[in-house]
Amino acid sequence: MLRLQDVHTYYGPSHVLHGVSLSLAKGEAVSLIGRNGAGKTTLMRSIMQLTPPRQGSISLKDQVELTRLKPHEVFRLGVRLCPQGRGVFPKLTVEENLRLALVSQPKRETHLGVDKAYQLFPVLAEKRHQKVRGLSGGQRQILAIARALMGETSLLLMDEPSEGLAPLIVRELRDLIRQIKKTGITILLAEQNVKMALSACDRHYILEKGDIRFSGTTQELTCQQDILVQTLGVSSGVAECEAPAPT
Ligand SMILES: Nc1ncnc2c1ncn2[C@@H]1O[C@H](COP(=O)(O)OP(=O)(O)O)[C@@H](O)[C@H]1O
Ligand SMILES: [Mg+2]
Repeated sequence: MLRLQDVHTYYGPSHVLHGVSLSLAKGEAVSLIGRNGAGKTTLMRSIMQLTPPRQGSISLKDQVELTRLKPHEVFRLGVRLCPQGRGVFPKLTVEENLRLALVSQPKRETHLGVDKAYQLFPVLAEKRHQKVRGLSGGQRQILAIARALMGETSLLLMDEPSEGLAPLIVRELRDLIRQIKKTGITILLAEQNVKMALSACDRHYILEKGDIRFSGTTQELTCQQDILVQTLGVSSGVAECEAPAPT
């Protein structure tokens, strides 16, 4: 679905991504774990071409080279960013936020439209005429996700959706991510919350100072908790890895 090869991204003279390579198969949920300033947001902005890389390749479905496109063209291909800090409009109502996300989408019945979004996220239906600034953090995050799913999404980039949310809400969010994955949408989840990343995704990349330090499955990562301690200063908070079953 998505392949990054040797991606280098800068802000002016400041070199932030130092040759990142990673790949996501269709339908996979993959996490990008890293502490503040590691480059997670920059990586997502690089994929969307909001901060175009200066070197390297980003290909979608092994067919389209995204680095040759503008952000709105990447969007049209079904790649959606659910931005850090939610990116919703506080002064508008829930419904206005959803409708705005549908502008510039080609009209097709199969799309996730406002009514389908209400079916999928009943809490938004309840609040449809309320201003977003009155919603809780969790409700705003659900709205941000619903906005990113409007139209036809094939690849969803989620930038720290659990940030600032209470543990109970984070668990609901994890279930929601699993549900979205079941619909066939490929997910890249940037997280500092390791427990969330490990329980929502099947495969993981650890980003440190703009470099990929680790790549592996949930089991491989739980077996190498020292990497988490080195790069994040935390352990995963999950049980130690299981020894392989005797044969
Ligand atoms: N607009 C910007 N201009 C200059 N430097 C930036 C900008 N945004 C981020 N950076 C720097 O790039 C590095 C990576 O930041 P970021 O991608 O936001 O990391 P993360 O999302 O993992 O916290 C940091 O050192 C940060 O200070
Ligand atoms: Mg960030």
